[in-house]
Amino acid sequence: DKGGHKHFMAKEIAEQPTVIADALSHYLSAGGEIRLPDPQVDFAQVERITMVACGTAFLACLTAKYWFEQIARLPVEVDVASEFRYREPPVPAKSLALFVSQSGETADTLAALRYMAGKADRIASVVNVPESSIARESDLVLPIHAGVEIGVASTKAFTCQLTVLFLLAIKAASDRGTLTDEARADHLSQLRRLPALIAEALDQNVAIRETARKLANARDVLFLGRGPLYPLAHEGALKLKEISYIHAEAYASGELKHGPIALVDEDVPVVVMAPRDTLFDKTVSNMQEVMARKGKVILISDREGLAEAANGTWDTITMPDVSDAVAPILYAIPAQLLAYHTAVAKGTDVDQPRNLAKSVTVE
Ligand code: M6R
Repeated sequence: DKGGHKHFMAKEIAEQPTVIADALSHYLSAGGEIRLPDPQVDFAQVERITMVACGTAFLACLTAKYWFEQIARLPVEVDVASEFRYREPPVPAKSLALFVSQSGETADTLAALRYMAGKADRIASVVNVPESSIARESDLVLPIHAGVEIGVASTKAFTCQLTVLFLLAIKAASDRGTLTDEARADHLSQLRRLPALIAEALDQNVAIRETARKLANARDVLFLGRGPLYPLAHEGALKLKEISYIHAEAYASGELKHGPIALVDEDVPVVVMAPRDTLFDKTVSNMQEVMARKGKVILISDREGLAEAANGTWDTITMPDVSDAVAPILYAIPAQLLAYHTAVAKGTDVDQPRNLAKSVTVE
């Protein structure tokens, strides 16, 4: 049942305020306590987190790396499962292994988990299907409560994964004493606002559809972001490739001049994800380099950011204000909507894109 939507993907995008509120209610008490299922992990005893996943779930891990490092001061290694499992890396003592998978059945992720079993101190998984193989073989299971996801392009599972991983980073920070009470309260209040912020971002649906109609004519699209928005640039590019079949690449904004800027000309749209955060000015200067080469910039930012930097862009998408840390969860919405409307404009099969399966159970 598509609930009145044209596609499952559209329904699943629209469900995000509800499912994120649901995920939060499972992990966060009214009094601000973060409650995790047993067995409890004392992050003060953890010296390193190794996160492994595929596809969009891998991009959730890359985003969470910024949180664990910045908020909990914990070293994090992230790898795609197909590389990790054959690389057979040494596992330092006091490691927590964390596997992220919507289906819980992805063959490479499961193989990476089996490699870590008996080597890491603890195996934890963030899954949408608590009865899945990955969940069954984990010591600690953190369900994301996204509900069934049918669209091959993952949307609500991604933002729910991020929500749970963010809570986990705050829990780690509390155990490790790396966060003041005030900073902790700030993070939690931003999280509590997230369902409303996402609803506000979804209100941009019609405007984003107009932008996507222009994007539909492109042959190549670049996505740029910095800091925790860098993995989101990858997520924007992955979504667009998967369902619209437009060639899309993502780069860290600062990497542009190390090669990719050679691709930029008047035919290349460049989507810049840049909330007005501490690195905003640096991203804007990268964006100006793109415009100087006639690249067509689509700037996604908040009102203040757009007031400052929209001049000369091809198009803009307005997001509500949000803290630096929570921004990647919110900016997933325009990434999803851009891909969705571009695919609809091109007439591709949104829910069942060619060559792809929802659950990749063979390597
Ligand atoms: O079920 P999983 O989360 O383990 O799946 C991992 C990837 O196959 C998945 O995220 C894939 O990249 C999606 N099609 C992305 O939209």
